[in-house]
Amino acid sequence: MTAAIEVRGLTKTYRRRRGTYRALAGLDLVVEQGGVHGFLGPNGSGKTTTIRVLLGLARADGGTAQLLGHDVPSRLPDVVGHVGALVENPNFLPGMAGRTQLQLLATSVGVPRTRVEEVLELVRLRDRADERVRGYSLGMRQRLGIAAALLKDPRLLILDEPSNGLDPAGMKEMRDLVRELGTGGRTVFLSSHLLSEVQQVCDRVSIMAGGRCLVQGPVDEVLAAHQQAGVVLSVDPPDVAAAVLREAGYDVVDAGRGRLRVGGTGRPVDDPAQLTRLLGARDLWLRELVPAATDLESAYLEITGGQGLGA
Ligand SMILES: Nc1ncnc2c1ncn2[C@@H]1O[C@H](COP(=O)(O)OP(=O)(O)OP(=O)(O)O)[C@@H](O)[C@H]1O
Ligand SMILES: [Mg+2]
Repeated sequence: MTAAIEVRGLTKTYRRRRGTYRALAGLDLVVEQGGVHGFLGPNGSGKTTTIRVLLGLARADGGTAQLLGHDVPSRLPDVVGHVGALVENPNFLPGMAGRTQLQLLATSVGVPRTRVEEVLELVRLRDRADERVRGYSLGMRQRLGIAAALLKDPRLLILDEPSNGLDPAGMKEMRDLVRELGTGGRTVFLSSHLLSEVQQVCDRVSIMAGGRCLVQGPVDEVLAAHQQAGVVLSVDPPDVAAAVLREAGYDVVDAGRGRLRVGGTGRPVDDPAQLTRLLGARDLWLRELVPAATDLESAYLEITGGQGLGA
């Protein structure tokens, strides 16, 4: 099947007052059709630049890009009817009702007005649609932007950080909406620097850093490949416990805040009871024992070489 998005060797250099800046450094990216694909990366890693290039809003210096099998920007007119996008904050007229603005948009893109009601329903704005946009919350504006992007019933929906600035309830609503939009064969390409959002919503993920894609694949596989082995435990005093465990052949490292990670390399922790027995025999008692973190955040930090968020 044709990929929803395929990018090969994309480069983009911005000229700045003092020299140049390489925002994309040979980006390769394949987004298969269907489901929600997370496009994850720290601030400044090139996510928005990639999306702008895909939509013909910025020009790449080198490489190729395709949307649904069509070269962009050269064949963009052939595919634009199948692609919807929300990039940065959507621009609506504050003094006009949401429904009216969608109706005007629908007319301009040749979509029947009945579709306006469908998209309002999808983004759960129908009962507020006659109010002026001025009175909308940020979350409602984002949802109105998504409604506009959905008018053409696109096969590919590109969302650039739709949860930016939303409160926890707004973020939850956005996650539910994104998940729903990624069903029925549609592809949602969701850029985000929020790991938990990607982990909760996406089927697949591409992880960016420094204008390149470092890892891509199903979220589970990315997690499995970067899973930290062993368990983390808290025990007092940690240095005495560490010595006991090392003596028994375990690899022990400091996991911060007085905790130890046991079993990374060396003797595997097949059964945590081995550890409790060993330590208990020396009158060392566990306060906590949990599997070593296997969340996307640890994997992400490992993949991006510790380049935390906001890097
Ligand atoms: N118009 C521009 N002129 C100069 N530099 C730019 C321009 N647009 C982006 N950049 C730079 O290119 C790099 C990549 O920016 P981009 O906006 O693509 O990152 P991002 O991954 O979307 O980050 P964020 O998570 O903050 O949205 C950044 O260092 C940014 O400062
Ligand atoms: Mg961005």
